[in-house]
Amino acid sequence: MLNRRNILKAAAAGGAAALLPWNNMLGNSPAGAAGAAAAPAVPFAHAMPVPRVLSPVARTATSDLYEIRMQEAKAEIVKGLFSDVRTYGGSFPGPTIKATQGREVVVRQINELTENTAVHLHGGTVLSEHDGLPMDTIAPGGERTYRYPNQQRAASLWYHDHAHHLEDTNVFMGMQGLYLISDQHERSLGLPSGTYDVPLVIRDARIEEDGTLLYTRPSDCNNMLVNGKERPYFKVAARKYRLRLYNACVNRYVRLRLADGSEFTQIGTDGGLLESPVQRTELLMLGGERAEIVVDFSRYGVGGSVVLENTGALSTERPEVLRFDVVRDAWDSSVVPSRLSEFPPLPARTVERSFELRTFPEMTINGLSYDPARVDVTARLGTTELWTVRNMEAPVEPGKPDFHVWHSFHTHLTYFRVLERNGQPVGVRDVGLKDTVTLGPGESVKIAMTWGPYTGQYLYHCHQLGHSSGGQMGRIDVVA
Ligand code: C2O
Ligand code: CU
Repeated sequence: MLNRRNILKAAAAGGAAALLPWNNMLGNSPAGAAGAAAAPAVPFAHAMPVPRVLSPVARTATSDLYEIRMQEAKAEIVKGLFSDVRTYGGSFPGPTIKATQGREVVVRQINELTENTAVHLHGGTVLSEHDGLPMDTIAPGGERTYRYPNQQRAASLWYHDHAHHLEDTNVFMGMQGLYLISDQHERSLGLPSGTYDVPLVIRDARIEEDGTLLYTRPSDCNNMLVNGKERPYFKVAARKYRLRLYNACVNRYVRLRLADGSEFTQIGTDGGLLESPVQRTELLMLGGERAEIVVDFSRYGVGGSVVLENTGALSTERPEVLRFDVVRDAWDSSVVPSRLSEFPPLPARTVERSFELRTFPEMTINGLSYDPARVDVTARLGTTELWTVRNMEAPVEPGKPDFHVWHSFHTHLTYFRVLERNGQPVGVRDVGLKDTVTLGPGESVKIAMTWGPYTGQYLYHCHQLGHSSGGQMGRIDVVA
């Protein structure tokens, strides 16, 4: 049977993996092995759009109903070139759904693509049947209605594809969109809002000279996109902005900083607002992670600008990701309160488990490749557990692309707290409520979470989606 696992074996044995979009993805040699030449990437050639906000097709007393057609479309990713992409609703990335705590969102997803899909709400506390599990796919021509209760705190979520063995390709080709939950407490704080609350969906890509978007190994993906555009500029006012950063890369980490080295204020993570803001100068983010920051552009003055750069860029790409151009003054009554939120309590941990993630020779967790029919973990509803997660890879030679020795550990259903990294209590890098945590080569973390509020089948996996598609994923059943 030609599944991803066997293909990986074939690839490892130097076999016939050349048919695959991720041909040679495991290779760590420098760029040049992708198909044709990469399109020349001129930075700041176009304006950064903000993904459109989807309007409900209907509202009831308790729910907002949406309809999305998954379809192929063309997107101008590199200025002047048109790429075939897979989309939610024709947009690249997909439209943003704005949800309010306490009001249910119902999304009818219609698959007009030629691939299987499954829609997962990343960060969503939802029933198993609405979680978009790998085998719960929507066949081409089919549809499915997902229900999201939004009984959770305000947070920056996203929805993306999760179909068995296909999520990496589908997400790379465009199957991702934002889902923002707000709540009364967050709205009362006076943080920058409205047009001053801006999502930045950051991801790499490989655009060929003819515009083809090519899924290939990350060391050949030297295009960097924000909200679907290659290295754009964004016109801002001289005031504070709330920026919601997403690493939506399929296989890469980014290290983000303002090019002038100045500090910004981090206010949130995957699971929403921090308890208190923290000052940062750099953010290391792996696939799936979110960070919310406040940047005050008044310090640059009208006519000034500042670049967001990736100090983890490939040697074959530019570090610039996005340039903010300060073009006007604006009244700013927004504040960043010193107390932002209250975390839910973290009860005593009564169960311990450990997980070892490996890339080589196969994508595994504790030596096993994902099998949807095998239950890897059974957790009791309401139990708080302590998980030790280890990246078993060693660092690669300095200067060589190292993306496949990193892992990004993600749990469905619940949020966790990172308690320890490499045996030490955590610092600012690991603050907040998380659903995804970064593991560099050889690193380990201890994380704690309470399983619930639902029973049923869920997942944990690496959020380098080339890894999860290759089997670095486990099944967890939450039982009463
Ligand atoms: Cu964002 Cu199971 O994934
Ligand atoms: Cu991984």
